[in-house]
Amino acid sequence: MDELLGKIDKQRLPKHIAIIMDGNGRWAEEKGEDRLFGHFHGVESVRNIVEGSAELGIQYLTLYAFSTENWDRPQNEVDGLMALLVDTIRKEVPILNKNNIKLHVIGDMKMLPEFAYNELMEALEMTSHNTGLNLIMALSYSSRWELMNAVKLIGFDVQAGKLNPETIDQNTIQRYLTTSNFPDPELMIRTSGEYRISNFLLYQLAYAELYFTNTRWPDFRKENLYEAILDFQNRERRFGKTGKQVQSGTPQLS
Ligand code: IPE
Ligand code: IPE
Ligand code: MG
Repeated sequence: MDELLGKIDKQRLPKHIAIIMDGNGRWAEEKGEDRLFGHFHGVESVRNIVEGSAELGIQYLTLYAFSTENWDRPQNEVDGLMALLVDTIRKEVPILNKNNIKLHVIGDMKMLPEFAYNELMEALEMTSHNTGLNLIMALSYSSRWELMNAVKLIGFDVQAGKLNPETIDQNTIQRYLTTSNFPDPELMIRTSGEYRISNFLLYQLAYAELYFTNTRWPDFRKENLYEAILDFQNRERRFGKTGKQVQSGTPQLS
């Protein structure tokens, strides 16, 4: 593990890593256990990856924990996940504070049961003064919900005379997204061997490097994160330009 860590170029770390934490259910079922057992163990991975990211000096970590589509899962799984969420937040807030980690949340919060919503709002408040890693939980989140929401908010502001449609540009769109305060992720990781985006940050991932691993989320640890970062550092990010152009200047999205 230290060997992997030593290979990482600290000057070229992604600022923002986004992860689709997938495979909890199958991990549990393969062990003859209930799916909730997998979610329970997934929390251990969250802890480990948050710690690993903070140690490296990653500035933003977005974790996809629950999609708007996940509300359609069997009621006992949804209830179990909400209970686990509240229980985890309660236990983790002191640790987040100790490590200077600021919690954020993106998603359709109106869908959350009241007890979970209240717990979450309290946790946001309690970590709001922290200045280290920004930990963004995507909860009851989906990109199509977010884009619909942004269009609606833009519509209201145009109607109220606060926004002139003539002036709308890409920065305007950015301001109305739930991720308005965060840079786009440079690296997106999905665990458990599925090669899809599942309604996650469709707009923001425009130029992200995508990394897929067969490792199920409950087995994902710091060394797996290091492998993903090393893979990222070996790629050439071209943003539409030629390799030659990129090699003679600093590659970035203009
Ligand atoms: C990811 O694991 C966690 C959530 C979506 C809440 P899954 O529950 O999707 O696990 P698999 O994909 O069924 O194995
Ligand atoms: C994506 O996983 C959502 C989260 C990890 C929270 P899913 O398991 O819900 O995605 P699909 O259904 O396999 O596409
Ligand atoms: Mg899944």
